[in-house]
Amino acid sequence: MDHSPKTAQTAAQPLTSRPGTTPLAGQIRVPGDKSISHRALMFGALADGETRITGLLEGEDVLRTADAMRALGADVTQLGAGQWHVRGQGRGRLQEPKDVLDMGNSGTAARLICGILASHPIFAVLTGDGSLRSRPMKRVTDPLSGIGARFAGRAGGRLPLAIEGTATPTPLVYRLPVASAQVKSAILLAGLNAEGETVVEEPEATRDHTENMLRHFGATVSVEVQGHGRVVRLVGKPRLTAADIVVPGDPSSAAFPIIAVLIVPGSAVTIDNVGLNPLRTGLFTTLQEMGADLTVANERIEGGEPVGDLIIRAGALQAVEVPRSRVPSMVDEFPVLAVAAAFASGTSRFRGLSELRVKESDRLTATAALLSVNGVSVEIEGDDLVIHGSGGKPPAGGGKVETHMDHRIAMSALVLGLGTAAPVTVDDAAFIETSFPHFADLMRGLGADIVSA
Ligand code: S3P
Repeated sequence: MDHSPKTAQTAAQPLTSRPGTTPLAGQIRVPGDKSISHRALMFGALADGETRITGLLEGEDVLRTADAMRALGADVTQLGAGQWHVRGQGRGRLQEPKDVLDMGNSGTAARLICGILASHPIFAVLTGDGSLRSRPMKRVTDPLSGIGARFAGRAGGRLPLAIEGTATPTPLVYRLPVASAQVKSAILLAGLNAEGETVVEEPEATRDHTENMLRHFGATVSVEVQGHGRVVRLVGKPRLTAADIVVPGDPSSAAFPIIAVLIVPGSAVTIDNVGLNPLRTGLFTTLQEMGADLTVANERIEGGEPVGDLIIRAGALQAVEVPRSRVPSMVDEFPVLAVAAAFASGTSRFRGLSELRVKESDRLTATAALLSVNGVSVEIEGDDLVIHGSGGKPPAGGGKVETHMDHRIAMSALVLGLGTAAPVTVDDAAFIETSFPHFADLMRGLGADIVSA
């Protein structure tokens, strides 16, 4: 398998989506959850014994993590589609990598690996593609310096970043200045090799896959709910033991076919096996508030995470106001929610989107641009996004969207073009491979008209 990451040097892949004459229909699965997939490979590499993973996302981002874990001494093998084995040496036993670790487009991989390396007595250098090299890393390197690790990076702490981990990490007590599961996870992972208790206070609850999976591998992690936030405590130096992991479908990936179904009249689709962790389902709550016909069937627990099958039918949508407190539970879903809002009746407002400015692109600006170039009236007011819906009538479309190396901007634009009056083109769909391999094929299987531009 070619594991080379897509980079700005790779030939751009323009794609066009065209409004169809037929509804979307079918029953599908989306790829495995990206957050859980990264963690499964990483935690498997930190544990004693063989971790067996089913349903792993084989997107570029996760393949970068697989390569990094190999470079750090773990045995990582693909046995079949989504079936992976990881053999680790046990906590604290990673080896120094012989070369630079290239994390491609993945902020999650880069930030979590910073946490892992910070409490190993080894030297490593992390880099990434043009998007990742522009993203802030001080949010992890500042607190991790407090455990005794040393970092040297470009201006603003950006990649490439040299890391000198410490053999004697001090456990941190840290209050997150931004609601970020990546920062929380980096600190907890560094705390694995520290003597004593690492404490992370988050003012807003963020996805808790790290806490859940660390427990699954045998660590003691306690969580105290405090208002909208949480205090997470990890007891250092646990024995981490290999454990099987079943990765559910990614709710953030399911978001794209869901919105496509909602905006193409007459459509009805079932998406099986989607992760329903309550810290990830802000989009579903919001869509229900918009009047979307979205129901969950067969709710069950699989591999320790709630999952269910989603049944979605097209229909009229009302404008919605998304409160700031809901942002962490749907932080990656705003570009495609904005597409739904463009078709709704009335004006929608999404509050408090400052974190979108530091995603794979400045997603707040890129989302507004993708709509406005296609005839949708949209404003950014401070950190809020305000979208004036068309009331169900197709927006004009016809625009060429700049994706800025951002998979979610590319997929959102392609979804938009399925419901506009004229086709929508994206300048480069290559980055979709980071999180959603075969996205265009899956959508075509539902009846979507997506072609090379
Ligand atoms: C992720 C956390 C989120 C999200 C990213 C995955 C994770 O980032 O945007 O796609 O797996 O922890 P932040 O925690 O920085 O908001």
